[in-house]
Amino acid sequence: MTTQEQVPLAPGGPGPLPDEVLRAEHISKHFGAVTALRDVTLRLNRGEVLGLIGDNGAGKSTLLKILCGFQQPDGGRILLNGEEVTLKSVMHARSLGIDVVYQDLALVNELSVYHNMFLNREEVRWPLLSNRLMRRIARDHLDEMGVNIPSVNVPVASLSGGQRQAIAVARAVFGNAKVLLLDEPLAAMGAKEVAMIIDLIEDLKRRGDVSIIIIAHNYGQVLEICDRVNLLQHGEITLDKLSQDTSVQELNDIVIAEYRRALDERQRSA
Ligand SMILES: Nc1ncnc2c1ncn2[C@@H]1O[C@H](COP(=O)(O)OP(=O)(O)OP(=O)(O)O)[C@@H](O)[C@H]1O
Ligand SMILES: [Mg+2]
Repeated sequence: MTTQEQVPLAPGGPGPLPDEVLRAEHISKHFGAVTALRDVTLRLNRGEVLGLIGDNGAGKSTLLKILCGFQQPDGGRILLNGEEVTLKSVMHARSLGIDVVYQDLALVNELSVYHNMFLNREEVRWPLLSNRLMRRIARDHLDEMGVNIPSVNVPVASLSGGQRQAIAVARAVFGNAKVLLLDEPLAAMGAKEVAMIIDLIEDLKRRGDVSIIIIAHNYGQVLEICDRVNLLQHGEITLDKLSQDTSVQELNDIVIAEYRRALDERQRSA
């Protein structure tokens, strides 16, 4: 059953839709015989945090990789601020204000926190900035975002997973990302680290100028952080609901029902 059509409401209840910052329409993606994405239509409103959930292999990362320019879709189109765009690369998407934080983060472990903050950020004219200035800007920026690390001088390798994740997010925002794509930022993290990332996302939400898509497996966390949730099953969005209109129970029930159906089908065809 597809419940997507039943929920045309904007976060906060009925009324006109707020500005749509990003829209993916009828996106498909195949890897040889594997259909990763069949026909995905997804929208992201300005200032919204959208949770993307689904089983392992459902196509979540593939969708994010397409939205950040890392992979090209086989079909469908992407609209940014209402205009169709072809995202040629991650750098290209970044120049348009879409940035991604992968699970492996793409930070350089051997470099200091502040060097990482300025890495590949041509717009801030590194390396023309002096180390002193970079340190100060990085410190100010992390303080402003409430990212708690001992010093910007320490190598990233000496930080915890949560601190690294926070720096990757801060770096993306520092680079003026208007759309932030986070692939499982809460995976394999302790309670304190999870709290730190959640605080960071809450801060961004309050600022209102950054829109976020976040992939996560913990439905409780998703409903806590996100305004809206999309469920991806077999390469299609099968549920699109405001967080306030769904529950961990409902999401669990849908996924378990789907599992039972697949099991029945396998047994019937055996
Ligand atoms: N580069 C690739 N080459 C071949 N197949 C791929 C590639 N990337 C993804 N796939 C396949 O596409 C499907 C979707 O994968 P994807 O990584 O998007 O899933 P996911 O929803 O992110 O899963 P998980 O929750 O485990 O991270 C899977 O069947 C996967 O094996
Ligand atoms: Mg994934």
